[in-house]
Amino acid sequence: AGDARLRAVLESLTRHLHAFIRDVRLTEDEWKQAIDFLTATGHITDDKRQEFILLSDVLGASMQTIAVNNEAYRDATEATVFGPFFVSGAPLVGNGGDIAGGAPGQPCWVEGTVRDTDGNPVPGARIEVWEADEDGFYDVQYDDDRVAGRGHLFSESDGSFRFWCLTPTPYPIPHDGPVGRLLEAAGRSPVRAAHLHFMVTAEGLRTLVTHIFVDGDPQLEIGDSVFGVKDSLVKRFEEQQADTPPPDGRDLGGRPWTAARFDIVLAPD
Ligand code: DHB
Ligand code: FE
Repeated sequence: AGDARLRAVLESLTRHLHAFIRDVRLTEDEWKQAIDFLTATGHITDDKRQEFILLSDVLGASMQTIAVNNEAYRDATEATVFGPFFVSGAPLVGNGGDIAGGAPGQPCWVEGTVRDTDGNPVPGARIEVWEADEDGFYDVQYDDDRVAGRGHLFSESDGSFRFWCLTPTPYPIPHDGPVGRLLEAAGRSPVRAAHLHFMVTAEGLRTLVTHIFVDGDPQLEIGDSVFGVKDSLVKRFEEQQADTPPPDGRDLGGRPWTAARFDIVLAPD
């Protein structure tokens, strides 16, 4: 009889696809272009690159799936797209450490707490952080094997955490393939709003995959290329003068820096 869930999903997909074709009055040429586009997408063979996930992302399908599956956790911090640049086994930097790893960019101090939905502090939560450098590159995009712009730490007994990173800057998703050409042809920007990625795991609580965005980033108005922005995740990154000493007294070599706060709430598992 076949799988009932699969049958229902396929039936709905077919119905919506028919409605879409009627809605845009798809021409036979356009249909052929779509088949050629999907064929080219499947032919990207770089193992650091999954062009279909990129397609899902720029269509907002990834984000919509995350939204649907997080509606039950309204009291918790909102989730957003995982993206392709997480690497497991990133260095332990510890509280107050620096995840920049020598990558270029403006120093940024981030602090906050991890709590459960009852407001209790969550000690020992594993906080993974990763980001692009100021040139818009993740370390996995460098020519060499340097590890930079990523690391992890654990929340303390009062749930607090703090670390140094780089002030996030906007960068384009990989746009030298079929998906990039599609965005270009449609006049859409491949650029993601500036963000800092987090994955937070703690015993008995639901794993959170999210980012924080930078209030005032012009790309928030233009639009994030993968529809990842949630208002609750836009944070102030306060500009600090070079002569303002940071909370840990670190010597920043006379550079200005920024400071942001991110208080995290994890749902029950
Ligand atoms: C990210 C990058 C992508 O290429 C993508 O499709 C989604 C997210 C990112 O790094 O955040
Ligand atoms: Fe990213």
